[in-house]
Amino acid sequence: MPRIRVKKSGPLKGSIKIDGAKNAVLPIIAATLLANGKCVLNSVPNLRDVHVISDLLRYLGAEIEYKDNVLTVDTSNINTYEAPYELVKKMRASFLVMGPLLARFNHTKISMPGGCAIGTRPIDLHLKGFKALGATIEMDHGFVEARTDSLKGNKLYLDFPSVGATQNIMMASVLAEGVTTIENAAEEPEIVDLANFLNEMGASVRGAGTNTIKIKGVKELHGAEHTIIPDRVEAATYMVAAAMTKGDVVLENVIIDHLKPVIAKLREADVTVEEGENSIRVIGPEAIKPIDVKTLPHPGFPTDAQAQFMAMLTVADGTGVVIETVFENRFMHVTEFNRMGANIKIDGRSAVVNGVKELVGADVTATDLRAGAALILCGLIAEGTTNVGEIYHIQRGYVDIDKKFRALGGDVSIVED
Ligand code: EPZ
Repeated sequence: MPRIRVKKSGPLKGSIKIDGAKNAVLPIIAATLLANGKCVLNSVPNLRDVHVISDLLRYLGAEIEYKDNVLTVDTSNINTYEAPYELVKKMRASFLVMGPLLARFNHTKISMPGGCAIGTRPIDLHLKGFKALGATIEMDHGFVEARTDSLKGNKLYLDFPSVGATQNIMMASVLAEGVTTIENAAEEPEIVDLANFLNEMGASVRGAGTNTIKIKGVKELHGAEHTIIPDRVEAATYMVAAAMTKGDVVLENVIIDHLKPVIAKLREADVTVEEGENSIRVIGPEAIKPIDVKTLPHPGFPTDAQAQFMAMLTVADGTGVVIETVFENRFMHVTEFNRMGANIKIDGRSAVVNGVKELVGADVTATDLRAGAALILCGLIAEGTTNVGEIYHIQRGYVDIDKKFRALGGDVSIVED
């Protein structure tokens, strides 16, 4: 099994380019099912998850090509509305095809998504939205079936600003009759990118990026060309790497506005952050000041950067507290950090991180893609060598993570056992 070997490295220096956002491109690929015709997506990251959802669309009848970060999708000949277990189980985000297929066929049958290491990941809010639009829902033998004579716009409230539920309901409502209002909607930048793409296809979506999104149904959508926004979570990961290694790193292809909570918390920890037009420079301090981090839906601090910030706090000059409010079980990385000599105690949704002088390299295991990336960060500053196993998690969300770290002077390589 391949693993990532990390050796203690000096301060990271130099510049790298951030790829397109995984969490923006996956719903946008699903949204191409709404178009009668061809879509061209630029800045599509070469990630396992992109190929998984592309294979699902091919199964449904789409023609897809991927070359040099450009994905062309022709969904003119979609010939089924059923998504099978063996394809959906590979990735929860596959469930995002449910809204588009329901909008296109008034009928769809999708295998329930698996949970994963970070929690049960229910779909009740997705289904609440589809029901509000007039669909009847049946759950049977691990499948969810939704059908309707025709979808009608409605007003609905999300008990939690779920990113996936907001996206699925937006996509289900763009062809519905009348206006749909989603209240307490998710406000993440990836929601805005999806709304922009839907509008480029001829939809009428207003308010994305706020907690109230209004969608006016239209008759049909046409193909469109779109460039995916940069990945704010990939950027946050390398920003923390620069901070932890007392480095000096420039990241190209970022949107500063998407990084505000991450920039604010790094500055609070005495990290220097210089904002460019579409680049950012991070200079690590002699000592990391301990800070408290509480994850919240956007524009709060992103849960997807929680493990990386905790890695930084393991060697801070004092005690910091990390509170995870978005997922009920996103501290799986704590045991792995403690095996490297960190001193972290979990108390429910809080983790108390007492900074230590130095971490020690060890054999560790990635439990989800962000935890895996955070273990590489720890390995960069730990004495000796760290071997990270189960790296498929990491490769789901990070393009060429070994090459990018090596370009910055990090001793990171993928080795076969
Ligand atoms: C998206 O997942 C992202 N994935 C996640 O990124 C990210 O952590 C998450 O949003 C939160 O920002 C993609 O975009 C592909 P949610 P999603 O629905 O949509 C509860 C990464 O590391 N909930 O906002 O699945 C749920 O249990 C990944 O790149 C319900 O209760 O997240 C969780 O506690 C990890 N009922 C909370 O909402 C529902 O119907 C947030 O989930 C749906 C969700």
